Amino acid sequence: MNSPTPKVSGRIPLIEAVGLTKHFGADGSVIPVLRDVSLKVYPGEMVAVTGPSGSGKSTLLYILGLLLKPTSGIYRLGGDDVLGLDRTGQADCRRRRLGFVFQSCDLMENSNVFENLEFPLIYAGVSRAERQPRVVAAMERVNLGHRLYHQANLLSGGERQRVAVARALVNRPQVILADEPTGQLDRQNSHMIMDHFEEIVGNGDTAVVVVTHDPDIARRCGRICPMEDGVLHGV
Ligand SMILES: Nc1ncnc2c1ncn2[C@@H]1O[C@H](COP(=O)(O)OP(=O)(O)O)[C@@H](O)[C@H]1O
Ligand SMILES: [Mg+2]
Repeated sequence: MNSPTPKVSGRIPLIEAVGLTKHFGADGSVIPVLRDVSLKVYPGEMVAVTGPSGSGKSTLLYILGLLLKPTSGIYRLGGDDVLGLDRTGQADCRRRRLGFVFQSCDLMENSNVFENLEFPLIYAGVSRAERQPRVVAAMERVNLGHRLYHQANLLSGGERQRVAVARALVNRPQVILADEPTGQLDRQNSHMIMDHFEEIVGNGDTAVVVVTHDPDIARRCGRICPMEDGVLHGV
């Protein structure tokens, strides 16, 4: 069942989810939140997941980010059965291959922006000499080069969101999972983030999944998959 995915025209999907389900339940009750979700995303693709609040979008993103275990189903990342990895293997995979932008923009509040971006690089074993220019470049790319030494808890909502995007990308992940990454941004900054994502997938090695409520942002993705009551359409 978990044999490696055959290559399709020389390429394997970066994300391959087959029949994912997630049930939450307490005291014997079972609430199905994801129902048989299947999704393939190839390198170079940008996919939007849209849908009403509570339909299961964040739950799907958490599963794809290896932050939550599905109740059942298969998930392969670049052909590897990542659900079969132990905790350390999954943590390593998150660190090396995945970039996550959370809805809550969870920054280290008492650290400055530089430290927030440097942390994942230290964790990934990037040398000090390489860390500095990568953090600076990531911050300049989201037009926040002037905020490098600002403490995180002094940033505005929009600035926090842009820092969260820069932090997800500083590791050059293969897969970027972004939960409403433009929810707190004006039009110009929203499109700047999408330009950035577009440029990254343009290299042909990376895939982006964006959860969004904004039809303008969804339209910038190659594919739109509406989620409705735990069912993912348009895949
Ligand atoms: N840890 C949890 N325990 C129980 N129910 C949960 C949990 N996390 C999410 N849910 C429920 O799953 C449904 C989908 O949530 P979510 O994936 O956050 O939706 P969306 O991101 O589309 O708004 C909601 O009804 C939510 O209440
Ligand atoms: Mg959500």
